[in-house]
Amino acid sequence: MSMNIALIGYGKMGKAIHSLAESDGIHVISIIDPKSSQYKTITEESMKNVDVCIEFTTPESCIDNIKKILSYKKHMVIGTTGWERHLPEIKEEVHKQNLGLIYASNFSVGVNLLYRIVESTSQLFAQVTAYDPYIIEAHHKHKKDAPSGTAKELISIISKQYKRKEKDFSVAVTRAGAIPGVHEVGFDSSFDTIRINHTARNRNGFAAGALLAAKFIKDKKGFFHFRDEFEKIIGGLQ
Ligand SMILES: NC(=O)c1ccc[n+]([C@@H]2O[C@H](COP(=O)([O-])OP(=O)(O)OC[C@H]3O[C@@H](n4cnc5c(N)ncnc54)[C@H](O)[C@@H]3O)[C@@H](O)[C@H]2O)c1
Repeated sequence: MSMNIALIGYGKMGKAIHSLAESDGIHVISIIDPKSSQYKTITEESMKNVDVCIEFTTPESCIDNIKKILSYKKHMVIGTTGWERHLPEIKEEVHKQNLGLIYASNFSVGVNLLYRIVESTSQLFAQVTAYDPYIIEAHHKHKKDAPSGTAKELISIISKQYKRKEKDFSVAVTRAGAIPGVHEVGFDSSFDTIRINHTARNRNGFAAGALLAAKFIKDKKGFFHFRDEFEKIIGGLQ
């Protein structure tokens, strides 16, 4: 499938997506970033011939960018994290404009498989009071939001199975060095600990997932969460 994309935000993630896109038949025709030599902000010219915008910026810029992308009637993939409180407002706007938006706090296929594992594991552990669940996450020192969006999704999955409030679950956060992303869900008892760990080796897993999401949203209208559409996007789980 040939597709033209605009990268909004050309930091670590924008660059990782760019490096994988061309080999996937996806053309990066616009790079928008205050530090970019092509476009500093979203303009009419920067949106010309763009099929899908992929946005990885900051929680402070993301909402304004989504509104601008909507005003140019483009479908979009949103990878920025830390804007969850605006979800209802944005969802309404996307439906009103009859466009397509897909978002995820983590586009990695491995992490989306981890969500499934944690869902079934916590369903099992919720029946055994001896085990207490917890989450540990670690990222590089520049990451702005804490806990990570992925850790929040893991809490939401576990709390549904345990039928307890999200705030009742313990999350430990580390921000140091250049760590691309570690998430661990543990179940601890007085006898032992069971750990499920995902460690990203680099950013390519997130970038590959964002490109899968771009192919998915190109001809779709509606507001989608990558986690809910995951099986369709990867072509089913066998
Ligand atoms: N969903 C996922 O799978 C996933 C994976 C990794 C990171 N993230 C999230 O993606 C976001 C970006 O991560 P990163 O590691 O690339 O950060 P980064 O700091 O390396 O890059 C962010 C870039 O956005 C640019 N920017 C800021 N405001 C802008 C604006 N208004 N318009 C255009 N560009 C703007 C900055 O100049 C910078 O180059 C963060 O919120 C991070 O948590 C999500």
